[in-house]
Amino acid sequence: MSNHVENEAKGFNFSDIKDMPHIVKALDHNPKIASDILNVIGNTPLVKLSKIPKSENVQCDMYAKCEFMNPGGSVKDRIAFRMVQHAESKGILIPGVSVIIEPTSGNTGIGLALAAAVKGYRCIIVLPEKMSDEKVNTLKALGAEIVRTPTEAASKDPDSNINVAKRLTREIPNSVMLDQYNNVSNPLAHYDGTGEEILYQLDGHVDMVVIGAGTGGTISGTALKIKERCPNCIVVGVDPLGSILAQPDAVNKTDVKFYEIQVEGIGYDFVPATLDRAVVDVWVKTDDTHTLNMSRRLIREEGLLCGGSSGAAMWAAVQAARALQPGQRCVVLLPDNIRNYMTKFISDQWMEARNFKSLVTNDNLRWWHEPLTEDMVEQLAVTVDSRSSPQEALEKLRKTRASLLFVTDYDTGAIKGLFTADYARRRLTNLHGSFNDKLEKFTFKKYYKVNLAKNPPLGLVSRMLDLEPFVAVVKTDETRKLEVPVGVMTSHDLLLHTLDVKHVNGK
Ligand SMILES: Cc1ncc(COP(=O)(O)O)c(C=O)c1O
Repeated sequence: MSNHVENEAKGFNFSDIKDMPHIVKALDHNPKIASDILNVIGNTPLVKLSKIPKSENVQCDMYAKCEFMNPGGSVKDRIAFRMVQHAESKGILIPGVSVIIEPTSGNTGIGLALAAAVKGYRCIIVLPEKMSDEKVNTLKALGAEIVRTPTEAASKDPDSNINVAKRLTREIPNSVMLDQYNNVSNPLAHYDGTGEEILYQLDGHVDMVVIGAGTGGTISGTALKIKERCPNCIVVGVDPLGSILAQPDAVNKTDVKFYEIQVEGIGYDFVPATLDRAVVDVWVKTDDTHTLNMSRRLIREEGLLCGGSSGAAMWAAVQAARALQPGQRCVVLLPDNIRNYMTKFISDQWMEARNFKSLVTNDNLRWWHEPLTEDMVEQLAVTVDSRSSPQEALEKLRKTRASLLFVTDYDTGAIKGLFTADYARRRLTNLHGSFNDKLEKFTFKKYYKVNLAKNPPLGLVSRMLDLEPFVAVVKTDETRKLEVPVGVMTSHDLLLHTLDVKHVNGK
């Protein structure tokens, strides 16, 4: 078999979907015992929502399609299994021989790793660095190998997860990229499964469906099926700010820059072939703050242990469903579960550190709401310019005994990230790094920072220190219009300033 197996399903038309080979599971007659975990995928519950629609003044009935209850934890189990079944039936995948390689934001990877574990394939998942450790650890537990790519790489960049996966597929013998972005099995799994199930669960009466779009397979397949039987059903697509799926033409004209979206799984900077934009009646744009707070409400008020993109869909659904009348039915699809986000939006500190939630009050501590000022920063910034080598940076760290270095741009002086002994060690030991690499590769970017211009309360610094052992302190240089380093705060520094004469016993 050749190294790179072209996906014979590429180049499909959505107008042909009706006539394609279908696999429809029995809807209400599941066997008492499943032959393996893959046969448990689908037939997810539809749950009536109560508290949120009431408090948001929604008159119609709202239902949650609980895709987060799939065995791998997300809607993507459906397409992963379906793509594997299809490729096996065509002889493209051979158990024990073929290697599955896929670029994914994580959930498709988990679905594929699950299928690979049960069926006996080697599986390599390529995913951006912003994806949570929870996803990575789940993938590893399922036996997948992980390759991580820079979050800031745009899809056309050679370092993007899509292009890295393509390169690996050319290099590794017997490897197959099932390619969720171009594979008709992606929308077909929803046409035969998700859409069929929703119609069955609501006895064929659906007035609105609200679904987030990433590859677009979920919304396209589900909506195509529902519209066949409920032609007046309004299909609402959910697209985060910074993504172009809702308005690709407008974006091409304005050359919008890549923007980091906190919500994982939805939104892209290109339109995948698996998205049928014609089936979407209305798009709702969502932002991180509304989205993540709504996910927390779905958990807290409705008891649905779902993830971030579920909040985006629910927030959009609340806006769109206000137009519906009592007795009408709106279905909102909740794609993945809480597991992927245990150290992210589930954490109050994580939300507060990003200003998605206001700082918790702490009436026992008088200093909690006082601002951090420059004179409190004892550990003043030590910098290293971006053209230095990792060895030079390490040497400077040793000589100055600083806890970390700010890496600054050689030309502009702008902060590019931090050089820390901890990240350098991780890079060398766990991430295939070498001291021959550029300093860029050793530059840590996921750190917490406060800008003195915004008068950050000491309480916020404390909340950030709950998450990381240090907080970078910066200020805005008004003439150059950029942030410049001031220094570092650790728990030690914070305690020194809160335990002084002014605040006896730390109070
Ligand atoms: C959490 C989450 N939500 C929503 C989606 C969007 O689904 P689709 O790719 O079918 O558009 C994905 C896809 O990866 C996802 O991971």
